[in-house]
Amino acid sequence: MSNKTGNQATNPGSFAIAIMAAGKGTRLKSARPKVLHEVGGAPLLAHVIAAAACTVPPEDIYVIVGHQAERVRAAVQHTGVRFVDQEPQLGTGHAIQCARAQLEKYDNFLVLSGDVPLVRRETIEAVRDFHFSRKAAMTILTAEPENAGDYGRVVRASSSSDNVKQIVEKKMLKGSQQRLREINSGIYAFASRPLFANIDRLKTDNPNREFYLTDMAALLVKAKARVVAIRAGEAAEVLGANTLAELAELDATLRLRKCRELMASGVSIYRPETCVIDSAVRIEPDTVLEPFVQILGKTQIGANCRIRSYSIISDSRIGEGVMIKPGCIIDQSEIGAAAVLGPYSHLRPASEIGPAAHVGNFVETKKMRLGRGSKANHLSYLGDAEIGEGVNIGAGTITCNYDGKKKHLTVIEDEAFVGSDSTLVAPVRIGKGSYVAAGSTITHEVPADSLALGRARQTVRANWAKEKREKKQD
Ligand code: UD1
Ligand code: CA
Repeated sequence: MSNKTGNQATNPGSFAIAIMAAGKGTRLKSARPKVLHEVGGAPLLAHVIAAAACTVPPEDIYVIVGHQAERVRAAVQHTGVRFVDQEPQLGTGHAIQCARAQLEKYDNFLVLSGDVPLVRRETIEAVRDFHFSRKAAMTILTAEPENAGDYGRVVRASSSSDNVKQIVEKKMLKGSQQRLREINSGIYAFASRPLFANIDRLKTDNPNREFYLTDMAALLVKAKARVVAIRAGEAAEVLGANTLAELAELDATLRLRKCRELMASGVSIYRPETCVIDSAVRIEPDTVLEPFVQILGKTQIGANCRIRSYSIISDSRIGEGVMIKPGCIIDQSEIGAAAVLGPYSHLRPASEIGPAAHVGNFVETKKMRLGRGSKANHLSYLGDAEIGEGVNIGAGTITCNYDGKKKHLTVIEDEAFVGSDSTLVAPVRIGKGSYVAAGSTITHEVPADSLALGRARQTVRANWAKEKREKKQD
């Protein structure tokens, strides 16, 4: 594998990457375009673009779109790549024909398939460098997976030769070709001149009546141009996703790869095969993940945290030394250093838990801030609330934030103590250092350092129970 970086190729000529993403994905039996199905928490196409963008700048990446083109464009527009339309979609060869005007300007270009998402930068650069070193017209990345499935097969000139005679699609395999084990990954490098000099020779004489890019191998050989093959180090890297079962396999491979990267960087993961971690997640060393956690989206987790089983964290930022006990759901929230959450806390979007604060079981939060060292340990709903530092929120406290039309704010100032089973009817303010008696319904401001009681006074009827019992016996 090459250790070259960025744009430096062994050949100084101009170089682009084309990504074929116009197909329908009939075999998925889904209304969603194939390249927008997800593995590792991101669309297939996003993975391919990310790998391509390691090697060439986005303005030299051409994504060929056709089926549900608008939806596909919208999903990856932010990457800054260029788009080429293929309408109608008449096969992989036709896809490259449609991009002729753009690709002809480059001396060489690489072709990636939008549905082969695990390909790594190292492999892309190895194909490019091999292509240049052999001065080839076409270089095919191949693999030998355990099961050659429906992939096209590569026919070499001889078993010891790099030279390729042709690629034969699965449905067209004849006789001894059935035994060929080397598959076409759908990833190629081309020299523009010989490719475009011959591409109009493609025919649709196949069961699908399509223009196959794979047929370029035999056409180029016939035109006396060099066609070579290079094997991928790992077959799993070039597998495609044509069915939902294949998609699930790729997802598992990608997530295990992510776990391995994290473990190599100092994160402990117990039973990594049970954990679901999206590609964009960042975790600092000495954090421990227990079995069956899901860490999704753009979540970032600091060092020395422990994420216990069955917690699902998405698009959140978690500081250092945080303990997340089992069964927490944390979405679009921020947790300060050394905070303790769970078991079974539910943090909905825009919850901001301060350093060393505690949120306990069956506490639901939403759009709220809990200050440093404050505690809400049991059975609460805290929404649209600003809670200061050193505050104690008693078990069962509810912020009544919604009047049926609008949301209102509850403010609880530093060092306040809210007794259990309090109902805080917003908008309302609980002043600094004040007390709210257990069982209160608070509808008016509680001034600083005061005690608020908002509950019915208790009455006691002496001997009432005893008299009742005696009456029964008569
Ligand atoms: C293709 C190869 C096969 C190879 C396999 C590897 C051909 C004829 N066959 O088969 O040899 O083993 O990939 O994964 O190329 N696409 C377009 N426009 C089209 C048709 C397809 O952009 O008109 C795109 C698809 O969106 C997809 C890619 O090209 O991303 C490959 O197309 P697909 O139909 O999946 O080809 P395979 O049957 O997998
Ligand atoms: Ca495919």
